[in-house]
Amino acid sequence: MCGIIGYTGARSAVPLLLGGLRRLEYRGYDSAGVAVPSTTGGPVQLSRCQGKIAALEASLDKAPLAGPCGIGHTRWATHGKPSEVNAHPHRAGDVAVVHNGIIENHAELRARLQAAGSHFTSETDTEVIAHLVAHELTKDSDFLQAVVRAAAQLEGAWAIAAVNQKQPDTIVAARHSAPLLLGLGGPGVGEDSTAAENFVASDVSAILQHTRVVVDLEDGDLARITPNHYEVVDAHGKPVQRPRRRVEWSPAAAEKQGFRHYMLKEIHEQPRAIRETMLGAGVGADDVRFDGLSLDVSACARIVMLACGTSFHAALIGRSLIEGLARIPVEVDIASEFRYRDPIVRTTDLALAISQSGETADTIAALKEAKQRGAQTLAICNVLGASLSRVADQVLYTHAGPEISVASTKAFTTQLTMMVLLAIHLGRRTGHLTAERAKALVDGLQDLPAHIDNLLAASAAIRIVARRHQGARDCLFLGRGLCYPVALEGALKLKEISYIHAEGHASGEMKHGPIALVDGNMPVVVLAQRGPGYGKVLSNLEEVRARGGKIIAVATLGDHTIGDLADDLILVPDVAGELQPILASIPLQLLAYHFADLKGTDVDQPRNLAKSVTVE
Ligand code: G6P
Repeated sequence: MCGIIGYTGARSAVPLLLGGLRRLEYRGYDSAGVAVPSTTGGPVQLSRCQGKIAALEASLDKAPLAGPCGIGHTRWATHGKPSEVNAHPHRAGDVAVVHNGIIENHAELRARLQAAGSHFTSETDTEVIAHLVAHELTKDSDFLQAVVRAAAQLEGAWAIAAVNQKQPDTIVAARHSAPLLLGLGGPGVGEDSTAAENFVASDVSAILQHTRVVVDLEDGDLARITPNHYEVVDAHGKPVQRPRRRVEWSPAAAEKQGFRHYMLKEIHEQPRAIRETMLGAGVGADDVRFDGLSLDVSACARIVMLACGTSFHAALIGRSLIEGLARIPVEVDIASEFRYRDPIVRTTDLALAISQSGETADTIAALKEAKQRGAQTLAICNVLGASLSRVADQVLYTHAGPEISVASTKAFTTQLTMMVLLAIHLGRRTGHLTAERAKALVDGLQDLPAHIDNLLAASAAIRIVARRHQGARDCLFLGRGLCYPVALEGALKLKEISYIHAEGHASGEMKHGPIALVDGNMPVVVLAQRGPGYGKVLSNLEEVRARGGKIIAVATLGDHTIGDLADDLILVPDVAGELQPILASIPLQLLAYHFADLKGTDVDQPRNLAKSVTVE
């Protein structure tokens, strides 16, 4: 969703802002803009465009903006259509503002400001912030305190960065339920600084090239940065101390490194990502320790998992794993539904939120709700310091590294890895998992990276499968047991990036509706790993075949039966049932990728989608 970058220092701001915006492109956006305080007097200079950053660059080439301080934004429209006038920054008086999130009381504020003489030019909720700050500055010229007073009038969720022509080297930023951090530069601190400078950004990838030293703002914080100085205050304007931290992700991890798309690169990073996730968990021979995690398993009567999108599919698989190996009852809720259905939560519940970004507004809100109702809280997250990690009592980190492609791949399989690890951890503590079975699972996990390398080598063969079905407009994915959520995820991946209508179903449900869709134009991807239910899946294949459906089977290496039933066969290594979802996901990711690439869609930034959905 929307992205914010701000820079103040000695360098020319615009190239740095554009570079940062490019790195935020992956979040999804429909317009972009920058604001730079003028060095020669006059109002803050603006340049804004509908569409891609390339359009903004072209317009800045024609009409450059000079100055060593500025703010930039990529907008994902919520209030008002994507257009140049609705693009951020928004200007009022001496002030220009960029904003992520939604101002819920914008209509009321707009009416009040208009009555007081403010003139609005856009349909956005953001413009009220610019007017409010400009109005507050007429009372007192302290820029930070003016934003403190303005922010106190806002309801909703926001991350803001503002510049002021009267203090042209200063950026004031505010965070309230939307991510924002400061990046500290300067000689010896920044990666490439030769003079004093500082940054503000909604996502660390925007500034990683220039500094790895960041200050996470807490909800309610406001900050003022100049080239030499930064200060943080709370919502009442009182100074607060926030620690610095060093980001371990390398800037190169957020580059394509020769791959055609980030998604393809991230698919190929899965062996490493899974290995690192295991390393981070403290995996022993027949146990998983999770140093630092303290869960009183005997007091945990139930686990309630909360997640959205791909992470929700990981939760569904986690439910079966934990119930199967630890015999703790688990419920899974779509985070956006949870708090609106007056859920039953007890103090003996553990609420477990799963989120790659740790910034998904619905997941954060659901976990807060569970916490408020007395549950213990745990988060599984891929981004250190993300908002979710500050809501949860405890956090387990996956170590997928930055995931840039909107469609989640390595974050998903590392979440699945974490689910197996957590199930082993809990199973050993409830006493339902024997050391011998735990050892077999741990050994199986250690072998996964090599198996995935082999599966990745089949990418070209999977492209041929995708090419054969290239004209398909609809596609079904079927799976049973642990592979039912894999079918859901396979369908989600395909529709997200190729725009082919795809549905995932439990194989057993096929006869209750989806079979009506099957005809000679419909590829049906069937997850047919050997194990319990295999015979039933074969029957489902026969039913699809009888109706002329084209079958793409994902089956176990060494299965000599299934070849006769399937039009296309993708084989995955024979591993323990608990680990099958991880391996079965890889060919489905590649299939979706090749479908989309052959179709020529924008694989990494599919239309209408955002990497992390920071509004409810
Ligand atoms: C967005 C992304 C999905 C992701 C979902 C949940 O919709 O496009 O890829 O699965 O958000 O994100 P989270 O960061 O909470 O896992």
